Amino acid sequence: MGDPRLLQVAAPIDRFGTPELRALLEDMRDTMHDLNGAGLAAPQIGVSLRVVIFGVPADPDDPDDVGVPYTELVNPTLTPLGKVMDEGWEGCLSVPGMRGLVPRYRDLRYTGFDPEGRPIDRTVSGFHARVVQHEVDHLDGILYPRRIRDLTQFGFTEELFPGQDLGDD
Ligand code: NI
Repeated sequence: MGDPRLLQVAAPIDRFGTPELRALLEDMRDTMHDLNGAGLAAPQIGVSLRVVIFGVPADPDDPDDVGVPYTELVNPTLTPLGKVMDEGWEGCLSVPGMRGLVPRYRDLRYTGFDPEGRPIDRTVSGFHARVVQHEVDHLDGILYPRRIRDLTQFGFTEELFPGQDLGDD
């Protein structure tokens, strides 16, 4: 946070399936896995293009947790379904060590393309919808602290959630 590249509106990808796009996605996957994040947007590694990745494995101890399938999404468009917003705690690899309570649309349709240009069209809710909204915000130069309504609900992870080992996302 503070790097001006994180405040830019990223440019769309105009050619799919290229070696450059595959190399970008490999860098993004490595970065997300090294930092144990739920998602990553290309501007977070200094590339101002409309590419995001995200995915969270299901919690094996929680039968209700289906996780979020690993997805590589290019040129996304978001359509909120309804006006209901939920507040939830978010972190970000570009704002390390912090958490904030952020409102997001509960129900969302998103479309876009995979790296080979095949269309993606999904209707999702809850945490999956939250992760996609967080990542796509990066493509429009928005970091989650700007979405926080009550700044008393923003702080250091170790103060807000002492003793919990939460990754950054
Ligand atoms: Ni982020």
